Amino acid sequence: MRCHAVLLCAGLASAFLASALAAPTTISALDARVQYDGRTVRTNETVDFDWVGVGARLRVDGASWVTAQFRTQPGKRGTRFRVYASDQGFGRYPMATVWVAPSPFDAQGGDANVVNVTLFTGFSASTRDISLYNIVAPQYNTGVTSFVSFSTDGSFAAPAANARRIEFVGDSITAATNVERPRGAPHCGDGGLQSDWSQTYEALLCAAFDASCSTVAVGGKCMVERCAGLQMPDYYVGSLYADAPRDTFAFPTAAAPDAIVIHLGTNDYAAGQSSDLDADFASTTLAFMQNATRRWARDDIEFFLPTGPMTGASRNGTMQALALAKSAGLKATWIDMTLACTNLPWDAGNPDGCDGCASHPGVEGHKKMFEAAQPVIAQVMRWLL
Ligand SMILES: *[C@@H]1O[C@H](CO)[C@@H](O)[C@H](O)[C@H]1NC(C)=O
Ligand SMILES: *[C@@H]1O[C@H](CO)[C@@H](O)[C@H](O)[C@H]1NC(C)=O
Ligand SMILES: *[C@@H]1O[C@H](CO)[C@@H](O)[C@H](O)[C@H]1NC(C)=O
Repeated sequence: MRCHAVLLCAGLASAFLASALAAPTTISALDARVQYDGRTVRTNETVDFDWVGVGARLRVDGASWVTAQFRTQPGKRGTRFRVYASDQGFGRYPMATVWVAPSPFDAQGGDANVVNVTLFTGFSASTRDISLYNIVAPQYNTGVTSFVSFSTDGSFAAPAANARRIEFVGDSITAATNVERPRGAPHCGDGGLQSDWSQTYEALLCAAFDASCSTVAVGGKCMVERCAGLQMPDYYVGSLYADAPRDTFAFPTAAAPDAIVIHLGTNDYAAGQSSDLDADFASTTLAFMQNATRRWARDDIEFFLPTGPMTGASRNGTMQALALAKSAGLKATWIDMTLACTNLPWDAGNPDGCDGCASHPGVEGHKKMFEAAQPVIAQVMRWLL
């Protein structure tokens, strides 16, 4: 740099130092200052996941930008994240939806494989929390995604830990399938594009309660094994969707949930209702709750069993499961979501049974499910907002 006056030179130099020269800081995804929500697997250099709703939380000081570096699985599609920054008085002010696409260098392996994604650019406030959540379920060929590192021009600090923990187990509704119906679409179905976990009842509950959440959900799956193939009890024991039915999750080393929402039955009852199925559904749900209690080594977990909104046929089976749970000394509460798809302001061209695609709850339906669940959970857990 050449300067013709000492003062101008000093001014330029300090402006330069304050901005462009501020050395970026990069921390590993394994750094203790990064907090994760949901099921993750730590390797020697990355934090890996595939379940929907998995999130990372960071705190930065004096940052005007924050980026994340990822690896995606070769041959897979990668995934999408909803990113938030604490701003405007909100803990989770929406910033962007980002696509972590497969690297074009996949085949070459190594560091060329790292995909760089901008999470935040803007005014460098003293302290800001950045959080990002995976919004697409793994059944859409997202593959396993790896958090590699995070970078900023500010500095990293540790965010406050969320004291409350909720685990969700479910089917396509909980997996965020078909949430975003393209406006005016007469028919639509999800290939991963209509998925958006950030607008599900779970995401709304997690944000409302400031809870750290984990979602284990696969579209088309049942509680009972009489549905062909792997079912939710088989997926529940895996760290990754890709692990099922292998028992790979580190129960009870991971922090146990205070509450588990088991939202199943829609597929179990797809072929209709019978007293035989009710008994099977109830006894399998009880076994599932007893297994979860044993695996987490925690006997005071509050279970919540919703019914609806895509079908009310599971209601009697769920009532029987609640009665069995009570006699077995478990704590379980019903959540009535059966009316979440009625009287929605959805667009007139939609011939489906709810406001999302393929009769699934969409943004409005999920909001109604949240409104049905939030007061019940708040009262049982004594979680004040
Ligand atoms: C992590 O493990 C892989 C495979 O064993 C190895 O190639 C790599 O060098 C290790 N990285 C570090 C940081 O130890
Ligand atoms: C409960 O755990 C037992 C023992 O691991 C297993 O055989 C059974 O399938 C599990 N049932 C459910 C519904 O999770
Ligand atoms: C559900 O249970 C109620 C009360 O036991 C009963 O009256 C009703 O017939 C049952 N419904 C079905 C569809 O089995």
